[in-house]
Amino acid sequence: MIKVAFYDTKEYDRASFEKTGSSEIEFKFLETKLTADTADLAKGCDAVCVFVNDTVNAEVIDKLYEFGVRMIALRCAGYNNVDVKHAFGKIHVSHVPAYSPYAVAEHAAALLLASVRRIHKAYNRTRDFNFSLNGLTGFDFHGKTVGVVGTGKIGRIFIDICRGFGMHVIAFDKFPVPDSGIEYVDLDELFTRSDIISLHCPLTEETRHMIGSDAISKMKKGVVIVNTSRGALIDAEALLEGIKARKVGAACLDVYEEEADIFFEDRSGHILNDDLLSRLISMPNVIVTSHQAFLTEEALGNIADTTVKNILSCFENDGICDNELCYRCGDVEACKKARKQRCF
Ligand code: NAI
Repeated sequence: MIKVAFYDTKEYDRASFEKTGSSEIEFKFLETKLTADTADLAKGCDAVCVFVNDTVNAEVIDKLYEFGVRMIALRCAGYNNVDVKHAFGKIHVSHVPAYSPYAVAEHAAALLLASVRRIHKAYNRTRDFNFSLNGLTGFDFHGKTVGVVGTGKIGRIFIDICRGFGMHVIAFDKFPVPDSGIEYVDLDELFTRSDIISLHCPLTEETRHMIGSDAISKMKKGVVIVNTSRGALIDAEALLEGIKARKVGAACLDVYEEEADIFFEDRSGHILNDDLLSRLISMPNVIVTSHQAFLTEEALGNIADTTVKNILSCFENDGICDNELCYRCGDVEACKKARKQRCF
């Protein structure tokens, strides 16, 4: 039996993982997040299963390794919270590269529609029998230019959705997709030409705060910024300044740089200590959802199935897991996985 400490468990995680009916894996469902202080709970386990806001830095990896943990199974796509370089040679890391890119792209479109057509405001008004239209004027998507940063799985679905609305799409990607029919431009041009900007690239040292005061200064007045990728792609203070200066017309945020200790929990009735987030939420032209873009039945089912498959393939037979990650991911020359071998 493979024992897995499952950190940051929510009701919907437990339901979807129990539905997989795997008899070879015993999950130890824990409500707490993984941190250096909670790593001890994985003692006696072969693997840990973690999500976006668990801390998997060098200190945590060393502790897990000491306890005999040999695998970190991420139940998400992004892995910016894992020190994959430090884990190399000690603990295998896997992720779920695609569980439903539709879920995330559709949520980005939902946020955008709600924001531009003021649906969130209209909903509150009509519930209060306020049928006034003042302040609810939106704009047509048709004919507008949308700038998409990152044209991977999610970015390309979002592009298709935008094209369905009759929007003109321009994009930036560090690795443009050849023959995709996408009009690639450099980032500065994307900033200056776009009416709407949607972020779909990973968080790396290079992309951290890619939307800061400098980028915002180049944007069109009234630009709508959508972020369903990772919070730290945006410098939230610069965004707030852009909104206060009436430069940024609206922001749709499913992710926030400092979300780790805030999102995914019911904090109503508590005083929120994060002044920046409070101020952003108080803005009439900001919509915040708490990292829920992935949350569809289809995505949860795929996440559970793929994570279970990753765990089984890492511990059984030759240990080769198609979804293993290592710090050399993207380095075609060094990649052992591409040659059907274990990363180490
Ligand atoms: P993907 O790997 O298919 O696509 C990422 C794209 O970004 C690739 O085309 C890549 O070339 C590009 N890229 C890499 N570095 C770049 C850079 N410096 N500048 C511009 N583009 C760059 O990933 P996928 O599945 O499309 O996911 C995108 C992001 O969405 C993930 O990294 C993750 O952070 C986020 N995500 C958010 C979820 C949510 O619930 N809010 C759920 C799933 C993913």
